[in-house]
Amino acid sequence: MISTTLLSKEKEIYSVTGEERIGVIPIMDNEAVEKAISKAKEAQPQWAEIELYKRAEILHDWADQLLKNQTNIAEVISKEVGKGYDAAKKEVTRTADLIRYVAEEGCRMHGELMKGDSFKGGKATKLAMVDQAPLGVILAISPFNYPVNLAASKIAPALISGNAVVFKPASQGALSGLLMVKALLQTDIPQEAVQTVTGKGSEIGDLLVTHPDIDMITFTGSSATGQAISQKAKMKPVVLELGGKDPAIVLEDADLSLAAEQIVSGAFSYSGQRCTAIKRVLADQQIADELVGKIKEQVEQLSVGLPEENATITPLINTQAADYVEELIEDALEKGATPVLNHTRKDNLISPAVLDHVTIDMRIAWEEPFGPVLPILHFKEEGEMIKIANQSEYGLQASIFTKDVQKALFMGSKLNVGSVQLNAKTERGPDHFPFIGAKSSGLGSQGIRRSIESMTRDKLFVLNL
Ligand code: NAP
Ligand code: G3H
Repeated sequence: MISTTLLSKEKEIYSVTGEERIGVIPIMDNEAVEKAISKAKEAQPQWAEIELYKRAEILHDWADQLLKNQTNIAEVISKEVGKGYDAAKKEVTRTADLIRYVAEEGCRMHGELMKGDSFKGGKATKLAMVDQAPLGVILAISPFNYPVNLAASKIAPALISGNAVVFKPASQGALSGLLMVKALLQTDIPQEAVQTVTGKGSEIGDLLVTHPDIDMITFTGSSATGQAISQKAKMKPVVLELGGKDPAIVLEDADLSLAAEQIVSGAFSYSGQRCTAIKRVLADQQIADELVGKIKEQVEQLSVGLPEENATITPLINTQAADYVEELIEDALEKGATPVLNHTRKDNLISPAVLDHVTIDMRIAWEEPFGPVLPILHFKEEGEMIKIANQSEYGLQASIFTKDVQKALFMGSKLNVGSVQLNAKTERGPDHFPFIGAKSSGLGSQGIRRSIESMTRDKLFVLNL
């Protein structure tokens, strides 16, 4: 019955459990993608001419529309990407808050005035006014795991600074993304200024990222895709937020109850499908066993089930993802890791796995599972923890658990990561903080002000009085 209504240029989207057909997205061909880019390019100057305060009002309206449709959008997020319903609702609220902050921040970016005579030999009669000009058309490519929030965190800064947008959502996540754009199009925004293109990234991606009318690319997703995009983009500015292997470093003097609670929440919320999830624990051997005991107690309390039941551990995004997680667990067990809990798998639902005594010859010590598995490594001394933390190809964030702030600052300064969290889990928010990935974890910086800056360039007017 389904296939009779399906057009050849459409893709059916099923819930992560595979049980419900929740919608259909267009599979756009090159011609349709070209058309979308050219409409965005044409609309951009008109959008940039609208007064800044009016653009801000439109963004506030967008936030209102999202909240008005929160229940519906959350239901779709929850089914489409398998996020607990309450967490999906929070994603919508967080996004509305982010959009409002973008609107306000954009209105407060007043440029800079520079005096000519502050440079030796310069004249006071020369004044530079530094304004921020939009780049043109921004290509926003988002991942599946925050289909609304990680899309709006690109679209809103692009719009407030006068850019048009071509938005490419993840295919599994596109229904949620389309609902978010629908809310935006219910405002007074010129309808052509935001174009959504759907279809497989591997098929339309090259056309998008190499297109001469795309002026900047902002991408969140895997390191492999991000690296390929950055190579193809050549001279286009690119901001990349990619994978992670965030360590939680637990020192001998740490508050172990706090550390365990933060580690478990950091590692397992949304089944570990977060770039900032804690993906390895590097524990001082003096406290490692006690820490593992506390982690075990916490993990045993996690709910495992369906997104609509608000479970923490839900089915992973697809079978390939679940197979990969299993493969990493099997590899570690074969090489001698100790299972702290007996994990089970039913279809794509994997119960939380904690692996103790993980060693550096195991793949789980280095690879990003993007699933509910936490490896624990034991160390005799802090220098070795820093060395192993830095040997990762990733450098998103790290947590350090200790009562010794001085030591945490010293160790943090040695870690090659974008952010260091002291006595708390790794995470992106609050969303106005800069969000940075080092090494294979990214390029450039996001966070509201940084994102706006990345989508504008300095434009100088020199007054010769
Ligand atoms: P992904 O497979 O790289 O996909 C991300 C986006 O890129 C999707 O929209 C995808 O479209 C598109 N894409 C795929 N191939 C492309 C190509 N050749 N050219 C242009 N676009 C292309 O990543 P994911 O599986 O959605 O997300 C999981 C990964 O993202 C993890 O590694 C995670 O750590 C990382 N992530 C990082 C952050 C961060 O902020 N650092 C945040 C979230 C996720 P299709 O869906 O159509 O393939
Ligand atoms: O998955 C990557 C997101 O940027 C993580 O955001 O730390 O708020 O979950 P989060």
